[in-house]
Amino acid sequence: MAECYGFGKVILFGEHFVVYGLPAIASAVGDKTIAKIEKSDKYELVDNRPATEGYKVKKKGEIKRSMKLILDFMKIDIEKNPVKITLSGNLFCTSGIGASAAMATSIARAFSDYFNLNLNDEQINRISYEGEKGSAGTPSGIDNTCATFGGLLWFEKNLQGGENKIELLEIKQPIEIVLGNTGLSSVTSEVVADMKKAKEADPEKYDKIFKEYERLVKEARGSLESYDLEKIGKLMDENHRLLKEMNLSCKEAEKIISIAKENGALGAKITGTGRGGYVITLTPGEELQEKMAKAIESAGFMAIKSKIGV
Ligand code: PMV
Repeated sequence: MAECYGFGKVILFGEHFVVYGLPAIASAVGDKTIAKIEKSDKYELVDNRPATEGYKVKKKGEIKRSMKLILDFMKIDIEKNPVKITLSGNLFCTSGIGASAAMATSIARAFSDYFNLNLNDEQINRISYEGEKGSAGTPSGIDNTCATFGGLLWFEKNLQGGENKIELLEIKQPIEIVLGNTGLSSVTSEVVADMKKAKEADPEKYDKIFKEYERLVKEARGSLESYDLEKIGKLMDENHRLLKEMNLSCKEAEKIISIAKENGALGAKITGTGRGGYVITLTPGEELQEKMAKAIESAGFMAIKSKIGV
């Protein structure tokens, strides 16, 4: 028997931009997906992860594709070596929290343990990336990197296919966040494809937005490193404005963002795919974090308290 985990993540800056080679900043969250692998007489995947209603049905095809990609890449013949895989953990699955990557990483690690493959983190990350192709189509690689390595990361995808740039960012102390769940699941590959189409149809608009983002993310790195919380929040708001201009927000996310603003969040934005999933709100200090979680919950949305830079 083997049991291993992968971290969930939040993107602080740069979802979608990261697909086009621009830098993004993301942080692993403490919540994890756990994969248990045990001997069985037939292959079976039992998904006990907590999830938004409809998530598992919507993701059924993706999960199947990811599993096949992982097994093929690891050259595991599941017919010859039937196992039961049970997924669990406290990572509440919906779009935006890197649930598919957390799953892929946990499974890759569990297979490595189960078959005594002794794979290192780079190898696990590579397998998890393969699994991500089942859900994101052409994933940037940011989710699997966070799921595998943890921490607060600066990430740049190498569009030529070489090594991605991954730098661990150190901050003075972890920062409290609250994630508000819109209750809607979106399909990453569809939203990424949609965004590509829109970008091709209006290059001028998107060039302008991309340039603005490039400036913003550099400032964001500086403000994280100098621990300027007000500035980080302001830049998150600016990042969200750009995402909204690219039609990646939705009514429910906007509602959570206005609640966040009314209750003193320093910044709030969509995190991940968008058009559903989670909103991240920057709420330094346990008091503000608690207040925010309550405010989001009283409006009927689920809220998760977490920290970035742990
Ligand atoms: O929704 P998530 O957590 O899977 O994040 C997707 C992030 C994108 O930038 C939209 C896609 C990618 O591959 O980076």
